[in-house]
Amino acid sequence: MQKGERVNFGSKVGAILAAAGSAVGLGNIWRFPYETGNHGGAAFILIYLACVLMLGMPIMIAEFTVGRHSKASTGRAYKVLAAGTHWKWLGYWGVLAGFLILGYYSVVAGWTLEYIIEAVTSGFANKTPEEFVEAFRSFSQNPVRPLVWLVVFLLATHFIIVKGVKDGIEKSSKVLMPILFVLILVLVGCSLSLPNAEKGLEFLLKPDFSKVDSDVFLGAMGQAFFSLSLGMGCLSTYASYFGKETRLGHTAFSVGVIDTFVAVLAGLIIFPAAFSVGIQPDAGPSLIFITLPNVFQQAFGGVPALAYVFSVMFYVLLALAALTSTISLHEVSTAFLHEEFGLTRGRSARLVTSGCIAIGVVSSLSLGSMQEYTLFGKGFFDLLDFVTAKIMLPLSGLLVCIFVGWYLKRSVSYAELTNGGKQKVGFLGLYMFLLRYVAPIAIALIFINELGLI
Ligand code: PHE
Repeated sequence: MQKGERVNFGSKVGAILAAAGSAVGLGNIWRFPYETGNHGGAAFILIYLACVLMLGMPIMIAEFTVGRHSKASTGRAYKVLAAGTHWKWLGYWGVLAGFLILGYYSVVAGWTLEYIIEAVTSGFANKTPEEFVEAFRSFSQNPVRPLVWLVVFLLATHFIIVKGVKDGIEKSSKVLMPILFVLILVLVGCSLSLPNAEKGLEFLLKPDFSKVDSDVFLGAMGQAFFSLSLGMGCLSTYASYFGKETRLGHTAFSVGVIDTFVAVLAGLIIFPAAFSVGIQPDAGPSLIFITLPNVFQQAFGGVPALAYVFSVMFYVLLALAALTSTISLHEVSTAFLHEEFGLTRGRSARLVTSGCIAIGVVSSLSLGSMQEYTLFGKGFFDLLDFVTAKIMLPLSGLLVCIFVGWYLKRSVSYAELTNGGKQKVGFLGLYMFLLRYVAPIAIALIFINELGLI
């Protein structure tokens, strides 16, 4: 966003890819596989898909409606659309969630930089699976290295935000997303060709419903919100840059399909590889940082040059996928401080970056030297992940449903979805039904179920 004027993305494809750039990130490639692993595999994925369709899609369209109609970043959008009401708190809540997510997300984003360096300096060559486990443990628990990478990553994000994101985000997304996609497909092929890969495939495709409990529903819902960048106004802020010809339903559907595809493909890379080298699928946040270097070594072990090129490319792309997401997270808080308190964009960005460094440092240390400090049995990193993804995002999603489904005039939604009547849209009735009834009731039930009230 430029000062004083609201810029638009240059094309419809650009709008889709920028939104997909926010959605596709560590959530798909790092978080989705380990949540799937923790929750027993295929049954989790089915419930996840249901969450994407029934909650994710309508809420994404609703956020798009809020953003494009208000032409304001999320921190101000609800003030514009519901002046003088308490709805403004929904915007603030989203900003807070985004700020907290950026803090711990950047820790993992920083890890990708360490792994790029490892890959570039051939650090993966000839390592045994045990050595990969140990290498990750000692790196993530090191008191200094992850912090350095965290700061580097946040500074890179900061730099792009201060420059203004329009050209950067849109253009880079157009180049990077297709490359990421091709690379992922190649890796799926490699992973599936490893010995014992079929055990991983079975884990992913054969649902075991005996493992389904309330945690699985909460996990799947949280993952859907996190992965689709919903519930904190990221996509609503981006939608404020959509042109008037952008079709909101079509864009949401495209982003949903791309995001889900990348997540499922990431699962198809990680699990066959994990089973092949005998790593438990529920290894948690370390999963991809241990299994992937292994895949490269094993799949291309005979051709070291290929193993080298793929390792480097993969971690570069992982870092870039993370970067398009951190930019979108950063933009929400920066635009909020800029618009709400009249600070310059530079000053706002500095405040956000400094705050996130502070949160990131504590998150990172909570995995190492501060491991013994826990709250509700969780370290700071895990606590932030839990509170944001599983509580803050769905809660705000619930309120977005109520805001757009019940508070906002229907004519506003119709006008936004049909681009002022120019576009025929066949799913208006279904959308409103999902938004007004299905999504809010489902979110409420999952919460109530988790709290043990039913
Ligand atoms: N969707 C991003 C990912 O999958 C993370 C994110 C969450 C980005 C919320 C913006 C808002 O990595």
